[in-house]
Amino acid sequence: VRHLLGIKDLNENDINLILDTAKEFKEVINRPIKKVPSLRDITIANVFFENSTRTRLSFELAEKRLSADVVNFSASGSSVKKGETLLDTVNNILAMKVDMIVMRHSSPGAPHYLSGRIPANVVNAGDGTHEHPTQALLDSFSIREKLGDLAGKRVAIIGDITHSRVALSNIFCLQKQGAEVMVCGPTTLIPKYMSELGIKISHDVREALNWCDVANVLRIQLERQQIKYFPSLREYSMYYGISKKMLDDLDRPIVLMHPGPINRGVELTSDAADSHHSIILDQVENGVAVRMAVLYLLAQM
Ligand code: CP
Repeated sequence: VRHLLGIKDLNENDINLILDTAKEFKEVINRPIKKVPSLRDITIANVFFENSTRTRLSFELAEKRLSADVVNFSASGSSVKKGETLLDTVNNILAMKVDMIVMRHSSPGAPHYLSGRIPANVVNAGDGTHEHPTQALLDSFSIREKLGDLAGKRVAIIGDITHSRVALSNIFCLQKQGAEVMVCGPTTLIPKYMSELGIKISHDVREALNWCDVANVLRIQLERQQIKYFPSLREYSMYYGISKKMLDDLDRPIVLMHPGPINRGVELTSDAADSHHSIILDQVENGVAVRMAVLYLLAQM
């Protein structure tokens, strides 16, 4: 049984296959009849132990566009609250003849743990601060759509790198396609191991914006902060917040991305998020086609 647990496990050919397949699915879902029968006999459970808007809806739409049967599980309101374990929960779902599990979990490694213990495909929809592979794939798809081949492109990932799963998946995905990567943020929000990944590190948001073709801006993840957070949101927005004027004043075009949800007025002003630089809603649109490609390809293996 094959899984999508992280971008770390993929090579450049795998990434190209997924992105090329997604391009075909994007054409399909822009037609008046959006559905294809590809996964007609497959049942998929979206198992979410953490909150989500984009990823959960996007997977559900992708599954429905592929004609799969879909069930949705949220830990809140389930028997997890009575103490049922992750493995018991998923095995009970599989007993109802489910073929694939799409899972979000707050613990890094939870999908890896599951994948070695169940006879179904596992797709990681975000595991704690570790990886969010389909987000990185849809981000690469969106950059390719806007700027073409990623080789040689400069992408700055700006914000709370420490608590992000989007950052690590994007670093792997971009590097495997030949892009140059920088992470930028306060020293408290960039983990030490970043210096071992062959990427640039900056603590100056203007330096990052001047360097890059694409700025992928991340939010401050207050829900993952164990201790009193430094810098405060006010300090963060003062030193790292990005406004439309900062983007307009650059001497080269820049593509602005954000995986969502945006903390408007913190990492981005509203006028930046809604500006002509932004492809934030294109990312969301592309998520459906990319997830269709991932599910379709896993079902063929
Ligand atoms: N980008 C992302 O993962 O958003 P959600 O948390 O809303 O799914």
